[in-house]
Amino acid sequence: MATITDPLTMLMQDHQRILGHLETLRRGLKSLADGKPGAETVASMRQAAQTLAREIDLHSLKKEEQALFPSLTEVIGPMGPVAVMIAEHRELDARLPQLLQELGKEKPDVSKVRALIEFIADLLPPHIQKEDYILYPLAKERLSGKQMARIVTKFEELEKAQAPPKSY
Ligand SMILES: [Fe+2]
Repeated sequence: MATITDPLTMLMQDHQRILGHLETLRRGLKSLADGKPGAETVASMRQAAQTLAREIDLHSLKKEEQALFPSLTEVIGPMGPVAVMIAEHRELDARLPQLLQELGKEKPDVSKVRALIEFIADLLPPHIQKEDYILYPLAKERLSGKQMARIVTKFEELEKAQAPPKSY
């Protein structure tokens, strides 16, 4: 397979991983709601929530907000789709620590876990769809090759700068 140097393809691949972690959380929630709050289920949900929080931090808060969006606002302005995406990132960023905290408890409150996962599950797939089908195609159309190359370089810097995962 050829090396991917298109930053938008890289971001779309991140999205698929992010949706996978969300799916693990949804499955876990279903087991909890079915009255099977096994320690194993909670542990797998905690793991998925940690990985999701880490992916959202690197992908949304760093690669998008610090690399893609600044270039994109140079050509389409800061308002409109970029502002909407950033507002949605803030919502995710506020809820993921709450979810981690609840899942870190010996007996997580199922109704709190449910409310948080349902919020994230309602927000994230449409958010990703807007990026994949509206924002990224717009970026592909409007950004120059030079801007794209600068974004890839910035991605590499951000990946290197991310702290290794904590072990729990
Ligand atoms: Fe994204």
